[in-house]
Amino acid sequence: MVNFLIFGPPGSGKGTQAVRLAEKFNLLHLSTGDMLRAEISAGTELGKKMSLIMSKGELVPDEVVIEMIAHKIDASKGTAGFLFDGFPRTVAQTVSLEKMLNERGMKIDQMLGLDVDHDELVKRLIARAELSGRPDDKDPAVIENRISVYNEKTLPIIEYCSKKGIYQPVKGMGTIDDIFKRLCDYIKKFV
Ligand code: AP5
Ligand code: MG
Repeated sequence: MVNFLIFGPPGSGKGTQAVRLAEKFNLLHLSTGDMLRAEISAGTELGKKMSLIMSKGELVPDEVVIEMIAHKIDASKGTAGFLFDGFPRTVAQTVSLEKMLNERGMKIDQMLGLDVDHDELVKRLIARAELSGRPDDKDPAVIENRISVYNEKTLPIIEYCSKKGIYQPVKGMGTIDDIFKRLCDYIKKFV
């Protein structure tokens, strides 16, 4: 098993790249954002509770996403590895993920962090708003809040994982194909 985190601010291309990487390396792509949006679409109680938080660009409680991920890991026996997208997003989530993986004889092998300029993030998300129907893409103030929340609550994960020697920054500017190639080159060292 090899397990990767695809990391980066909102709009950095985590989802775009994760879909392609998962296919190429036969990894299971687990996106907490996608899971939460599926709960909202299905009209579940959890989805109803989380939708307001998400529409403001705030983080949902750690325990909600930790439980979702734990269920997915246990329901995914036999996969070659996991590719976590948009999770973990706090140091507490990172510690929980490590514990969850350790208890099952696994670890985080590498965190691949996409570096993208602020203005490019905003440009991509405003462009996506037309197609995505995501309420958190429609309002520029919510986009800015998501980036601020990332800087405040998510960025400390970089220091945490750097100390463990598992953080790899990756240039996230340029074409989708060029970035994909860069990410593949790092992943190939592990698989
Ligand atoms: P989530 O769904 O994870 O959203 P996000 O982090 O805001 O990131 P995005 O999905 O917006 O961006 P992305 O990096 O995936 O970029 P993408 O590939 O789409 O989370 C949503 C919300 O759910 C959170 O705000 C929070 O409320 C909640 N949540 C989720 N997980 C949580 C957790 N663990 N803890 C707590 N709360 C959680 O690309 C963006 C656009 O750019 C696309 O249109 C794409 O086509 C385009 N694009 C991509 N690459 C390029 C390129 N190289 N050049 C030009 N355009 C590009
Ligand atoms: Mg995404």
